[in-house]
Amino acid sequence: KQERRKTIYDLMEQVSAHYQKQLRSDPQSQRAIDYLKRRGLSGRIARDFNIGFAPPGWDNLLKAFGDTDERKQQLIDAGMLIEKEDGKLYDRFRDRIMFPIRDNRGRVIAFGGRVLGDDKPKYLNSPETDIFQKGKELYGLYQARQNNRHLEQLLVVEGYMDVVALAQYGIMTGIATLGTASNTEHLRTAFRYASELIFCFDGDAAGRKAAERALENALPVMEDGRRIRFLFLPEGDDPDSVVNRDGAAGFQKLLAGASPLERYFFESLYEQTDPNTLEGKARLSKLALPRLQLLPEGVFRQLMLDSLAERTGLSRQSVDQLLNESQAIAQQEE
Ligand code: CTP
Ligand code: MN
Ligand code: MN
Ligand code: MN
Ligand code: MN
Repeated sequence: KQERRKTIYDLMEQVSAHYQKQLRSDPQSQRAIDYLKRRGLSGRIARDFNIGFAPPGWDNLLKAFGDTDERKQQLIDAGMLIEKEDGKLYDRFRDRIMFPIRDNRGRVIAFGGRVLGDDKPKYLNSPETDIFQKGKELYGLYQARQNNRHLEQLLVVEGYMDVVALAQYGIMTGIATLGTASNTEHLRTAFRYASELIFCFDGDAAGRKAAERALENALPVMEDGRRIRFLFLPEGDDPDSVVNRDGAAGFQKLLAGASPLERYFFESLYEQTDPNTLEGKARLSKLALPRLQLLPEGVFRQLMLDSLAERTGLSRQSVDQLLNESQAIAQQEE
């Protein structure tokens, strides 16, 4: 099994090199190059991230690599070829810009492929395979670690293009979840390398939804010494559009205004309740307590409880008592 995996990693690396070569030499590749240029990417950054091109056609990869039955099976296992019901094989990725996804150790384990125009789906990702579990991997983490001897912070963004565009502007700390919402496992992984995470989701409904999810997932991993902030980009923007329009300085300026977890936590609750009335304060504590319970024991948890006391006018003693009651209810429900 070990041996088989090694062969698959080797094969994926070769496939990635092949896509990269096609970006330079395929007769169709000018469209892809023009597209990347239009997106503001330099040849250098495309090389740094090993961006490639899968030309149109159903059997390019099959012809290039599927010379034996064993190889064909490996490509199927790796999610690169799809087997039809009649046993015929075809390339999963066709006419797409190819982003290789590397694991923590730099091995190519999957791809994301973007259409050159407005076709759907915009991005196609490798399926889950033996070597690729979507919910665990972070695009760009390997490069961020390669480029920074010591990472202070990581920027959690939504997309491949956000990671690459930030890097092009010298911001080498972007990481992206892969078409899945960020989960606690992603955050644990990211915190292994940096003590601060800043979420920079898109300025759209999906991005705001993702931020809410991120907050939920962040609470259980907020150990003392860790820091999380939330950056809300202007409507219609994402990190890629910001750096391409306003440069690194423009993006850094927005970053400086990112909300600490505490502020975002309470402000998002203020959208559901009016903290200026007693009823609102009661509701605030009712909404906040079950979530604050998710925080690990520590100073940060104590300070968040202080903050709730301050915002409601309750004594800390009352907050603790309410917390115990809410904990008891939660345990009964389990
Ligand atoms: N995504 C996906 N499949 C889709 C659409 C989106 O997997 N059909 C994932 C991709 O990882 C994408 C991310 O969700 O990068 C965010 O989506 P979106 O903001 O719509 O795309 P962008 O990354 O901004 O893509 P681009 O700038 O290339 O248009
Ligand atoms: Mn540090
Ligand atoms: Mn979006
Ligand atoms: Mn986006
Ligand atoms: Mn974008």
